[in-house]
Amino acid sequence: MLAGKRILLIIGGGIAAFKALELIRRLREQGATVTPVLTRAGEEFVTPLSAAALAGQKAWRDLFDLTDEAEMGHIELSRAADLVVVAPATADLMAKMAHGLANDLASTLLLATDKRVLVAPAMNVRMWEHPATRRNVETLRGDGVLFAGPDEGEMACGEYGPGRMAEPEAIVEAVVAALRDGPLRGRHVLVTSGPTHEPIDPVRYIANRSSGAQGAALGRALAALGADVTFVTGPASVPPPEGVRVVRVETAREMLEAVRQALPADAAVFAAAVADWRVAAGSGSKIKKETGGAPPEIALAENPDILATVAAMKTGRPALVVGFAAETDEVIANAAAKRLRKGCDWIVANDVSPGTGIMGGRENAVTLITAEGAEEWPRMSKEQVAGRLAARIAEALAGGGA
Ligand code: C5P
Repeated sequence: MLAGKRILLIIGGGIAAFKALELIRRLREQGATVTPVLTRAGEEFVTPLSAAALAGQKAWRDLFDLTDEAEMGHIELSRAADLVVVAPATADLMAKMAHGLANDLASTLLLATDKRVLVAPAMNVRMWEHPATRRNVETLRGDGVLFAGPDEGEMACGEYGPGRMAEPEAIVEAVVAALRDGPLRGRHVLVTSGPTHEPIDPVRYIANRSSGAQGAALGRALAALGADVTFVTGPASVPPPEGVRVVRVETAREMLEAVRQALPADAAVFAAAVADWRVAAGSGSKIKKETGGAPPEIALAENPDILATVAAMKTGRPALVVGFAAETDEVIANAAAKRLRKGCDWIVANDVSPGTGIMGGRENAVTLITAEGAEEWPRMSKEQVAGRLAARIAEALAGGGA
């Protein structure tokens, strides 16, 4: 999948650097050429010899090596690649990138490159959560830097939390997504996914059974066609796709805000199962169960309809607005009415009656409803539904016939 692609791989100094060797192997397996660059700290964890042996070419080490400079200047090295990958990306390397420092070979290459940069952060959870790192991450995202991970889990230092470097397999997926050329290259597509959680009090919430599987498959399929995807997700039970911009939210109102922030977009697909109602007056402290007392009455208030809000936008409305309709009866008639009511261009309707096994399952049977009419698709995996829908979105945007 990466045949002919050239990756410049910067290996920073962290315990996760050993996984960079596995990453080199996997990237080459996919047909990529990998040029390794080690920071001084990186060399403390893996030797240039191991990196060079696995890459099948020289591992670059030091900015001030005059022979290297004569052989190939750092500008050229940074531009000969199709993609620059930083794995592991330490807090220090990310800080340098965010501030434009160029005081060693790795940071100089990162400042001199005109190619996309993908980072796989790896650091202690406190360092990842430190406000300085949060600011740097935001700056880098704003500069268009792509992120793979970090994952959450046990760390080498014994602590637990986000900060573990993404597995090499996931980084390869992100590299493939970043390099994929396709009909949606240069297009920004917004996807909402997963359920929302509406708090009752600090420990309880109202939720629904959406797993986020269809939304994640859709994000992946759109990225595979070259789209620049913003993936706004509620607390889903499946992980978000790699190689997309992930924005995590909890409530419907947070989701609407995140969607507004993510616009403008060429197309927006609303696959999230947004709670229709929230608790009108959520409690700031845990509601106590009184012995012999009456159960609390929970009054609900209506949530904003994110799809309808975006579809009704006078300026900056995406050219194509797609909604989903999970129905249990009169699927097509209800969905067609919903398309008009919500003002969206297409509705992807599915039957989520208990017997279908669709909600939380691996398959989906959908009907695509457009202004032209209803198109029933055979039952297929959620990945296939996503692939077909992504292809239709690409066609519609290309033809301007959204
Ligand atoms: O009205 P209903 O919830 O069935 O409509 C489903 C569609 O509307 C989905 O695309 C869903 O993501 C979107 N929706 C929304 N905001 C809401 C409710 C639904 O974006 N508050």
